Amino acid sequence: MDVEVIPAILVKNREDLLERINRVRDNVATVHIDVMDNEFVPNKTVGPESFEDLPAGIGYEFHWMVRNPEKYIERTRGKHLHVVHVETISGKNWNAVKKAVRESGGKLGIAINPATTLKELEPYLNDVSMVLVMSVVPGFDGQKYIGEVEGKIRELRRRFPELHIEVDGGINEETAAKAGAAGADKLAASSSIYRAENAKLAIKAIREAAMRKRKAGVGESKSGGSKT
Ligand code: DX5
Ligand code: ZN
Repeated sequence: MDVEVIPAILVKNREDLLERINRVRDNVATVHIDVMDNEFVPNKTVGPESFEDLPAGIGYEFHWMVRNPEKYIERTRGKHLHVVHVETISGKNWNAVKKAVRESGGKLGIAINPATTLKELEPYLNDVSMVLVMSVVPGFDGQKYIGEVEGKIRELRRRFPELHIEVDGGINEETAAKAGAAGADKLAASSSIYRAENAKLAIKAIREAAMRKRKAGVGESKSGGSKT
């Protein structure tokens, strides 16, 4: 499996959103848009009112850090990936989320906070195309990577060799290598890309760091061996 680096965009208005999309547009296949409602997390960002007619030629994944994701997804149509938090789902609204995603024309993924166990994901895993493992408590960019979540990444990778596993929060060259070795194949990163002098070089460096370790680490974790 290849490793994809996905710029994460956490902004408060459409102008900044477009500027950040354009800054990486020629260098990546996908961008990750953070959406916060000031309820599920203590911060507020751009929302569906800003998601009409986004630039073509790049894929969008929406990371819904909101209490009622189905309401937001209904307003965000297109072939996008919608990642909802397991902490916002109850048996009751899962069907509404699935319906909203289906009707929007998009795909569904599920995110899990650092403190949430894999057991809580179980009921939903059959319905999703990817899992987003949070390596910070959601709400802000620029936080420190929580290495303890690597246990969940390893366990998911062991059980589901083909599943897309994305890691989000505190990803830089160093932590990308760790997340890659644990089994992640997608890495969302904001500060280490947008605060770098050259976003293109930063993306390349993060990807290469993860790929090196991923090749060395995956498949050998049981014996504890590493070739590096
Ligand atoms: C956190 C967001 C992340 C964040 C990543 O709530 O979901 O996507 O923007 O930012 P960095 O890479 O700076 O930790
Ligand atoms: Zn995010």
